[in-house]
Amino acid sequence: MKPPTQINHPPVVDLPADNRALVAPIYQSVKFEFDTVEGALGYFRGERPGFFYSRGSNPTTRQLELSLAQLQRRDDAIVCASGVGAMSTTLLSLAKQGDHVLSFIETYPPTRQLLRRMLGKFGVRHSLLSLSDLAGVERLLREQPTLAVVFESPTNPTQRIADIRALTQLARAHGALTVMDNTFAGPHQHGEFDVDLFTHSLTKSVGGHGDVLGGAVIGRRELIERLHPDFTLIGGTLDPHAAFLIQRGLKTYLLRYRAQSASAQRIAEWLMSSSAVARVHYPGLPEHPGHALATKQMQDFGAVVSFDLNGGAEAGRRFAEALKLFATAASLGATESLVLPPQMLGHQDLTPEQRVAAGLASGTVRLSIGLEDVDDLIADLQQALSAC
Ligand SMILES: Cc1ncc(COP(=O)(O)O)c(C=O)c1O
Repeated sequence: MKPPTQINHPPVVDLPADNRALVAPIYQSVKFEFDTVEGALGYFRGERPGFFYSRGSNPTTRQLELSLAQLQRRDDAIVCASGVGAMSTTLLSLAKQGDHVLSFIETYPPTRQLLRRMLGKFGVRHSLLSLSDLAGVERLLREQPTLAVVFESPTNPTQRIADIRALTQLARAHGALTVMDNTFAGPHQHGEFDVDLFTHSLTKSVGGHGDVLGGAVIGRRELIERLHPDFTLIGGTLDPHAAFLIQRGLKTYLLRYRAQSASAQRIAEWLMSSSAVARVHYPGLPEHPGHALATKQMQDFGAVVSFDLNGGAEAGRRFAEALKLFATAASLGATESLVLPPQMLGHQDLTPEQRVAAGLASGTVRLSIGLEDVDDLIADLQQALSAC
């Protein structure tokens, strides 16, 4: 063979069957070859395992799917390019023209935009209620055949707690699926509830280092198989290298989640004693309206602490700018602490009444607690509260 041929057909190095890499390699390959056409056809017919094209599946992304499914106590998962990709893959695959979806004013704003702008374009209708309005949910599901109930718990940023048992029972009784964005609680929580599909942004606590975007849909195998054909057409596949980074993040996820939850709890308690703060939103606080429910549903309350400053939006801006250790930036669940002032929290699509009903005040600030020393974080919060 001449050099141009040689360098494009490098030697194959196969590991012996009894000799594996302890950390799975990154299969940075778009395609996988079969020795025979019959082998490929057998794969297409579902008669044998294998991989063909990485938009549909890849060994590195598959390892992450199986790890996440195990942690969330389900049999299967699909990983996507982002958390929003996981939600859009789910809803675009399940819904058809004329269907109705129920969601909530507390839901992550891009999920509401997805329902309004994208699914709305294809004739899928939706309603938004408040997460605490279980009577309203019951009434609506009775009156309006509904494809799916889409919810979160705790919610972003005011940390409302959904009654997951009540919501799943109501949905099932009326033939609706439940789709829970479980990003805030993480894949180690809520698996015991009868939720049909969990979605996650892996960009947050699971990846954990703020250096990779990813998402997942996790559920029973038959539901995941129902999503798979449209998932490969939407094309929002996770890259194998990103999957590797997320799989690496997953190894320390529980340690990080619990350390961040412990620091967040201390910070929430400390904020309760500040005269500049009107209200603290953290489900680990006994004063939180959802605390009793959160204690039944969760073991760890997470890295996000929100609170309302007495001084309103302007105080929130000054507070964020005065902080030295907290970066003013999007996202949450990473190793470094972050702050979002009221001006950057989104939710502009809600009416003033809906904002109040969702628990948002003019001075609501969101913190994501990282892995810094908690005393240093409290000292920084103290100086910034004095400055604002
Ligand atoms: C609850 C929730 N769901 C989904 C997402 C979207 O995740 P991604 O940025 O990975 O698309 C976010 C991002 O902040 C979120 O907070």
